[in-house]
Amino acid sequence: MIVALDGPAASGKGTLARRLAAHFGLPHLDTGLLYRATARALLDADEPLDHGPAAVAAARGLALTDFEEARLRGRDMGEAASIVAAIPEVRRTLVEAQRRFAQRPGGAVLDGRDIGTVICPDAEAKIFVTASPQARAQRRALEHARAGEPVPFAVVLADILRRDERDASRSVAPLRAADDAVTLDTTALDIAGAFAAAVAIVEAARSRRPG
Ligand code: DC
Repeated sequence: MIVALDGPAASGKGTLARRLAAHFGLPHLDTGLLYRATARALLDADEPLDHGPAAVAAARGLALTDFEEARLRGRDMGEAASIVAAIPEVRRTLVEAQRRFAQRPGGAVLDGRDIGTVICPDAEAKIFVTASPQARAQRRALEHARAGEPVPFAVVLADILRRDERDASRSVAPLRAADDAVTLDTTALDIAGAFAAAVAIVEAARSRRPG
């Protein structure tokens, strides 16, 4: 069974994907890490983030495992990843590795922006996880504060709105819900509530599977 989760920044899709993977005993790929690692490699090499050939070379050089997450999670890296992710050749370079991951025997859980639409259009379960920009900004601001790097709420909200706009308006594989995805709005849900709702969506999709 392939479970595809898509949604905007800080919607909760990463946490849900991790928990669903543990619950159903499936491997999990956070595809945002691929774009973050590509951006990190460009920054480390002092290349501009919108340099197509350098970005493609960086994407080709990625190993799918082995991400140094601490260096990829910082506040600036989400923004940098979003810039790199708008380059069509970078997306093309990363498609195959994601599809291979999804085709593992038994299936997988993948989360990102284009999993249900482009990477795994035939996924058995598709969830579009969303929440209001204010709720997402509040969560992000709390994460920054907990990490000892407080950022004013208005700045976090502006970051999120800018990233939503870029991710949803790019020409290739923009952020959008697949026509057959179930939307899960987590604005008013805590993690336990969102997880219970996500499990119910996957179970319902699984019970509709032929055979
Ligand atoms: O999910 P995330 O915040 O780690 O993603 C960082 C950026 O990477 C996001 O703003 C857009 C890009 N991304 C993408 O374009 N497609 C994906 N499948 C995953 C992430």
